[in-house]
Amino acid sequence: NRVVLAYSGGLDTSVILKWLKETYNCEVVTFTADLGQGEELEPARAKALLMGIKPEHIFIDDLREEFVRDYVFPMIRSNALYEGLYLLGTSIARPLIAKRQIEIAKMVNADAVSHGATGKGNDQVRFELGYYALAPDIKVIAPWREWDLTSRTKLIEYAEKHQIPVPKDKRGESPFSTDANLLHTSSEGKVLEDPWDEVPDYVFSRTNSPEDAPDAPEIITIDFERGDAVAVNGEGMSPATLLAKLNDLGRTHGIGRLDLVENRYVGMKSRGMYETPGGTILHLAHRGIEQITLDRGAAHLKDELAPRYAELIYNGFWFSPEREMLQAAIDHSQTKVSGTVRLKLYKGAAHIIGRRSPNSLYSEKVVTFEDDAGAYDQRDAEGFIKLNALRLRLLGRRDGR
Ligand code: ARG
Ligand code: SIN
Repeated sequence: NRVVLAYSGGLDTSVILKWLKETYNCEVVTFTADLGQGEELEPARAKALLMGIKPEHIFIDDLREEFVRDYVFPMIRSNALYEGLYLLGTSIARPLIAKRQIEIAKMVNADAVSHGATGKGNDQVRFELGYYALAPDIKVIAPWREWDLTSRTKLIEYAEKHQIPVPKDKRGESPFSTDANLLHTSSEGKVLEDPWDEVPDYVFSRTNSPEDAPDAPEIITIDFERGDAVAVNGEGMSPATLLAKLNDLGRTHGIGRLDLVENRYVGMKSRGMYETPGGTILHLAHRGIEQITLDRGAAHLKDELAPRYAELIYNGFWFSPEREMLQAAIDHSQTKVSGTVRLKLYKGAAHIIGRRSPNSLYSEKVVTFEDDAGAYDQRDAEGFIKLNALRLRLLGRRDGR
């Protein structure tokens, strides 16, 4: 029996690695994904080797382009926000990790997969719904739900007993738990657990504080093709390069910080702090290009679907027929969503200041307050209003309001 473990190289997943071997007497295959979390991944290889994993059983994959192209961009097309605010940076990465992990399991003939998510959170659900969708008969091992290492101290004791290196900063209570990728960094737990207490400065890792951001605004343009960003300031870029570029701009101007209390799928509320610098700019810019290229009917229907879509991503149903149905509708809506948005970045916020498109539905000729030279006949509005008013007048007569 052989297990593929989603392995970060950190303390927790190293303990899991050892625990799997001990508890299940199995061969462990490690899988480490580069999703742009900004950490060196070679140390994960060294650590896996040190822990007795065969070189051919260590998988380290650069998934950055696939992540942005096939997961982040399709989600941005939908304008999804969970509970009105959260850009879903962790949620959207989980299905890709699950998919690659299952591919590796099939490659190495493993009968089980394992992850380091706790039994209290969303991530366990997202990983495992992905596993079961792609490999219905796979065995799942979730150590946090099984073992008795119920505290940080016990975890560190276990590590020391088994010669797992414990980094100095992990010896004390770690102040919070983080998850990072190209789209966002999230922090939860410990110093953030009281939702009344302001998030301390040291929790932020990838944005300047708006107070310290430059006093001069910066103007940028983003070009879209069929709903996807393709260039920044006229320079064409691959999806991951483009998001990294927007992350740099967002960092400088302190854009994309969010302090949120949200409803986890398992039923509890949790307080998190998110930094989504590039994603925040991209989300706004995408709305900007849709403003002129989408018809009202399509746009409003999208706005109704977006919360449903967001909830599916949050709850871990990426590989579900209903997510795919929504995606097909959303993607179809984007065929004319091309053009350029101009934005101003300034002290913690991005602002749309211009948009243009060869597919624009905006007609200055029709909307103008000046003489429209017959483009629109104002007399048509009288009947339009009268018929809309008919019910209200009948009601008004009856009820004497
Ligand atoms: N609450 C966020 C979500 O459910 C972030 C979860 C962070 N995960 C983590 N392993 N630290 O999407
Ligand atoms: C975890 O419980 O592993 C992290 C938080 C979450 O998944 O919601």
